[in-house]
Amino acid sequence: MEKTQLIQAIQTLKQEKDAIILAHYYTDGAIQEAADYIGDSYYLSKIAKEAKQQLIVFCGVRFMGESAKILSPHKKVLMPDKEADCPMAHMVTLEQIKEVRKQHEDVAVVCYINSTAEIKALSDVCVTSSNALKIVRNIEASHIYFIPDENLGQYVEQYVPEKTFIFNKGFCPIHKSMNKALVLEAKAQYPEAEILIHPECTPDVVALGDYVGSTSGIIEYATKSTSQQFIVCTEIGIEYALQKNNPDKVFHFVGDMRACGSMKCVTLETLYNALKDEQYEITLDEAIMKKAEHALLEMHRLAD
Ligand code: 13P
Ligand code: SF4
Repeated sequence: MEKTQLIQAIQTLKQEKDAIILAHYYTDGAIQEAADYIGDSYYLSKIAKEAKQQLIVFCGVRFMGESAKILSPHKKVLMPDKEADCPMAHMVTLEQIKEVRKQHEDVAVVCYINSTAEIKALSDVCVTSSNALKIVRNIEASHIYFIPDENLGQYVEQYVPEKTFIFNKGFCPIHKSMNKALVLEAKAQYPEAEILIHPECTPDVVALGDYVGSTSGIIEYATKSTSQQFIVCTEIGIEYALQKNNPDKVFHFVGDMRACGSMKCVTLETLYNALKDEQYEITLDEAIMKKAEHALLEMHRLAD
């Protein structure tokens, strides 16, 4: 099928089945065009929970689909590509959490939403890049075990000096590749440009940012700013929303690892097949879901 036919077929199936399509800012522009809601991890987790539709097609990576399922266990959640997984979600183990809990009495396990359902089930609260700072400030425990992303954890730590942080060595390969030398090179080339950074970048890169925040934060900042040029340190999919909201502004991306392969797994074809054949459904162990739900609901409670 051609692109326009595929888009039409997706819309027809969506209406017939009363489905809702959610897409993260890192997915391909064509997917964002086809979606009912586009957003960052936090926003999409709320939309998935509040949606009246019983069929959700999540265009993103597995932890996003799992979070939607955990928050709405009675809904059917589909992922267009079953291989779309975030490597960072697997960079911490259940044993590590158990060990830290054994060693520290007054510790809160703060889990980035980029994690598996099993890891969420052992955590006290989830966070995303848009709410991590607010949530950690609201936690009573004196020690924070921040998993799996060390970079986001270190970004939060600098604003919460009253707490002791314990880190884990997880990272996003895409954001890690956007290193300091590349950012400085881009700044030398475009000295007028403001630097916009996602906190999954390493601390030396974060320190260069005129703005540091989540994908939706970056889009909001660029849209409000009077600057005409920006150096953007995050996944390339965000370019679609940045350019749509700011057709006259120029966005420069850094490095040659700008695209997250897992996010780009979702295509119009796989989205169409997902709706047609109702595949690939997220299924999770009931007990794990119940425990993981607590950490996600705590996030919504502390962030709102
Ligand atoms: P946010 O959209 O919450 O900024 O998340 C970034 C990300 O890496 C999702 O995989
Ligand atoms: Fe995971 Fe990084 Fe891809 Fe986000 S961009 S899904 S953190 S690998």
